[in-house]
Amino acid sequence: MSEKATLKIDGKSFEFDVITGSENEKCIDIQKLRSETGYITMDPGLGNTGSCYSSITYVDGAKGILKYRGYPIEELAEKTVFTETAYLILYGELPTETQLQEFSYRIREQAPIHTNLEHHFSGFPQNAPPMAILSAMLNLVSCFHPEVLEVPTTGAEFDRTAALLMSKVRTIAAFAYRMASGKPINHPNPNLTYCGNFLHMMFSDPYHQYEVSPVIDKALNLFLILHADHEQNCSTSTVRVVGSSRANLFSSVAAGVCALWGPLHGGANAAVINMLGAIKASGRPLTYYLSRAKDKDDPFRLMGFGHRIYKNFDPRSLILKKQVHDVLQALNLEDGLLEIAMELEEATLQDDYFISRNLYPNVDFYSGILLRALGIPLNMYTVMFAIGRMPGWIANWQELHDHKLRISRPRQIFTGETERPFIPLSAR
Ligand code: CMC
Repeated sequence: MSEKATLKIDGKSFEFDVITGSENEKCIDIQKLRSETGYITMDPGLGNTGSCYSSITYVDGAKGILKYRGYPIEELAEKTVFTETAYLILYGELPTETQLQEFSYRIREQAPIHTNLEHHFSGFPQNAPPMAILSAMLNLVSCFHPEVLEVPTTGAEFDRTAALLMSKVRTIAAFAYRMASGKPINHPNPNLTYCGNFLHMMFSDPYHQYEVSPVIDKALNLFLILHADHEQNCSTSTVRVVGSSRANLFSSVAAGVCALWGPLHGGANAAVINMLGAIKASGRPLTYYLSRAKDKDDPFRLMGFGHRIYKNFDPRSLILKKQVHDVLQALNLEDGLLEIAMELEEATLQDDYFISRNLYPNVDFYSGILLRALGIPLNMYTVMFAIGRMPGWIANWQELHDHKLRISRPRQIFTGETERPFIPLSAR
């Protein structure tokens, strides 16, 4: 017999199905709640609301487990390159060598952007935030590829659209940086890897071809793999909400970019570096910042700490912390911010406020220090997150359509004025 949950309202009992996920997660199916009882549920921030079924990513926040399509993040980070993991997220299986080659070829083929798009970059002010440019340009790209405005109906259409988006996001990101720096753009080089090509478009100069160091290539692959998906986070949910109106994939991910931009989400990686820099420059003791973070009247929070789901540790943060040490050592670099970051982490581990609220470093805490070591400029950090998250956004958007989900349209409890007598303008 299937499991049921009983709800009692005014002495009357209502039964709802209990749904069990493949990792034994439980959920009460309340789809008929309103029609049967007249009630709705209230869950601001949607912390207890399942909005879809998904077979892409699994997170167990209590145990610090993250898996893409059943594969632990630790193994994918160590043993795959980004395109391999992206393929897994998009198609559900790890690629064979031939499949990976074909996938990489499709991405390579889509790397150039239409020349008529190039002059749009110079229309932005030089200090325009690259996340604004990225979001705008993703919508613009779709104008040059009208075929992507439809939901892909064949495998070949999906193959092309997914490769197009994964490739264009990388080109747009690099061009945005070149334009903002007043430097000539570098066209993509089809002989380079996904990460190598990005680094070339970012850092090559007319008289200096950027040499991709294997250490940097590996670290960038790892960064992108760790960011590739994270189930129903704010930006992915945004992509799904926008996509549920049947808006096209490009405008849906452009909205995802905007959601990611915020400092409580992807913008935290740059905010962490700003915070660590400010701590260093001020010379104040860490206790000053811990007190501020605990003070409810102070908007200051420890950036890179806390997570809606992880209540023990964020496995991505552990991988990144080790990677930061390895990369700094391999590149013979030192970073004073790393020392402050580790002292801060140590201090929070002794502090009851952080212990009792399960506030631990999240993915954004060490990722900025890694990006600094790779030479990525601060204003590009959240763009790097967006490049990494692209396969997750695409896969979630496609899954939404595969499951033929209804338009997202939450309810509310109205707390405003009820009926009011209208007063003409002359009498107000
Ligand atoms: N510093 C100080 N206090 C915090 C912090 C923090 N970073 N995060 C949460 N708290 C406190 C919060 O004030 C609340 O305290 P109380 O119970 O006394 O009112 C309690 O911890 C629970 O916090 P919440 O805001 O209800 O938790 P949430 O699940 O709504 O928010 C979060 C999660 C990640 C937005 C939040 O922890 C935060 O703002 N962290 C800093 C920003 C950050 O690092 N964001 C990156 C998130 S991970 C990657 C990503 O999504 O992009």
